[in-house]
Amino acid sequence: MNGQSIGPVTGLRITRLLPEGFFADALREDVRRGLGAPPGRRWLPPKWFYDARGSELFEEITRLPEYYPTRAERSILRERAGGIAELTRARTLVELGSGSSEKTRLLLDALRRLGTLERYVAVDVSESALRGAGEALLREYPGLAVDAVVSDFTRRLRLPGAVAGPALVALLGGTIGNLLPAERAVFLREVRSLLRPGDALLLGTDLVKDPAVLVAAYDDAAGVTAEFNRNVLAVLNRELGGDFDPADFAHVAVWDAEREWIEMRLRARRVVTAKLRQVDLELGFADGEELRTEVSAKFRREGVEAELRAAGLRLGRWWTDAAGRFGLSLATPA
Ligand code: SAH
Ligand code: AVI
Repeated sequence: MNGQSIGPVTGLRITRLLPEGFFADALREDVRRGLGAPPGRRWLPPKWFYDARGSELFEEITRLPEYYPTRAERSILRERAGGIAELTRARTLVELGSGSSEKTRLLLDALRRLGTLERYVAVDVSESALRGAGEALLREYPGLAVDAVVSDFTRRLRLPGAVAGPALVALLGGTIGNLLPAERAVFLREVRSLLRPGDALLLGTDLVKDPAVLVAAYDDAAGVTAEFNRNVLAVLNRELGGDFDPADFAHVAVWDAEREWIEMRLRARRVVTAKLRQVDLELGFADGEELRTEVSAKFRREGVEAELRAAGLRLGRWWTDAAGRFGLSLATPA
C-alpha cells in the first residue's frame, strides 16, 4: 500500500496518500498566490471550505429548498442506479469528493443487489466527512471493504492498493464544476489515466438554466450558503493565525453568463485589514472589494461530451432528471 495508513478505526481504513504537512503547505501556497494577487483579483480555491464545519454546512445546503442539485441528482440515481450497475458490473466503486456518501448508497445498493461490489474507496479532503460516512457505511454494508482516503483529487490521483476491476470512478454532485476549465482538463486526463479497459467514469454535472434559479441556489434565504462561504475565513484564522472577522464580509453569488458559471465572492463591507501571522501576510481590502471563493460551472451536454473526448473518454450514456436540471454521464476509455 502506498502512503501512510492511520486506521483502522472501528474497521475503517483511513489512508493519507499525501506527504505529511501537504495540506498546511498547499494552503500557504494558495493563500500566497490567491490572496497575494492584486486587489480586486484575489481568489481562493474552494477546497478550503471543507473543514469539519464546512462539511456540515454543505450537508445543510443540500437540504435547502433553493438548492436543487442534490435532489435532482438523487432522482436520476434512484431511476438509473440499477442500469448503471448492470452496465458497469463494478467490483470497486471509487468516489472522488465523496462527502457524506449519501447518494452513493443508491449505487452501493444496486451493485450489491447485482452481487459484483467488493470494495468502496471514498476520497476526500475532509477527514471528518470521510470518518462519518465511512463508519456508517461499514455498519450498513456488512462485508463491504471500505477505504477512506484523505487526498486532494486535483493532485496526482493515486489509490491505496490494487484496485480490482471493473472499477467505477464517480464524481457526483457537480463538484467538477468547482474546477476551472484548465483544471477540469487536467483532472479528466488524470481520471482517464486511472481507468483500464472495462472501467467507467460516472460524472454528475449541474446544467445551465434560468439564472434566477441558479442565483437562488447559491444565495439562499436562510443564509446557510453565506455561512459556508464565510467559513473559509474561519479556516484561514485557525490554520494561519489570522484575525479576519467573517462578519466584515458579505456573501455574493453572481451568474457569469459568458462563462456559464456561478461565482461566489466575499465582499468587504468596509475597509478591512487582516493579518495572517503564519504566512507573514498583511492584507488590506477596500470597502466593496471582492474576493472570489468559488466558481460553480454549469454545463450543457455537448460541452460535457467535448471535455470528456478531449481527455480520451467517450460519453456512453447521458441521463437527466425529469426537469432537465442536472446531468449524469457514464463514460468509458475511448
Ligand atoms: N459528492 C458529495 C459531496 C459534494 S461536496 C455530494 O454529491 O453531495 C464536495 C466534496 O468534495 C466535499 O466533501 C469536499 O470536501 C470534497 N472536495 C472538494 N475539493 C476537493 C479536492 N480537491 N480533493 C478531494 N476532495 C475535495
Ligand atoms: C460541491 N459543489 C458541487 C457545490 C456547488 O454547488 O458548486 C458547492 C456549493 N457551493 C455553494 N453551495 C454549494
